[in-house]
Amino acid sequence: MGKTIAIDGPSASGKSTVSKGVAGALGYIYVDSGALYRGVTWHAIRQGVDTKNPAAVIECMQTATWDFFIKDGASTFSIDGDVPVQELRGKDVRESVADVAVIPEVRQFVVESLRSLEHFGSLVMEGRDIGTVVFPDSPHKFYLDADPEERAMRRYRELVEAGENEKAEEVMASLKKRDQIDSTRETDPLTIARDAQVIDSTSMTLEEVIQTVIHAVEN
Ligand code: CDP
Ligand code: CDP
Repeated sequence: MGKTIAIDGPSASGKSTVSKGVAGALGYIYVDSGALYRGVTWHAIRQGVDTKNPAAVIECMQTATWDFFIKDGASTFSIDGDVPVQELRGKDVRESVADVAVIPEVRQFVVESLRSLEHFGSLVMEGRDIGTVVFPDSPHKFYLDADPEERAMRRYRELVEAGENEKAEEVMASLKKRDQIDSTRETDPLTIARDAQVIDSTSMTLEEVIQTVIHAVEN
């Protein structure tokens, strides 16, 4: 069984970029746990299911065939034979994912799927509840944070680069709404694990954050 490095934190705190960097440097498998919540959401939307109807979302998730595999050093999945990638980043998914992620049965399915990935090898897994719920026994837990204004600015820059023309104020509002849903939901809210190392990256470069994590894991 491999080791798992758990990286949690709010939106745009740098989890994906940092986790990929750490995974690449250490030769671990990168796992984006949010992609699974997005996958459940995307599949529900494409089946015409109302994402505010938990029973329908659960039914749709449970009747689909899910398959997990490793591609280019990262954990990937197919749903009924399709591998969504860009589709998971769309506006429709982004706006509904927090509602889907509050459904306890969805969380249970995703948590079990994430735990099963350990048989592929050592993992760097990013999310909201990796250190608190998915791998509470991991000795390597990190909580990335940054000021909300800085996080909204990072997200905004990404959207502009991707050619989306959302307004900066809309990005800020949507990020704050998602922060609020994620930290106040009843099942597995975003909280800091007692033994997690907190890294505030507001004024750190990505490379500094990556090196901080690697240094802590190796010492
Ligand atoms: O995964 P998460 O939503 O936490 O954040 P991310 O997608 O890794 O990072 C959001 C954006 O912030 C990316 O475009 C990063 O390049 C940028 N970033 C940064 O500029 N400085 C940092 N210390 C961390 C992230
Ligand atoms: O890109 P961003 O960091 O905003 O989100 P993400 O990591 O792709 O996750 C999308 C959504 O899934 C989050 O807003 C959470 O509602 C949910 N999520 C979760 O509840 N638990 C996780 N371990 C990962 C994501």
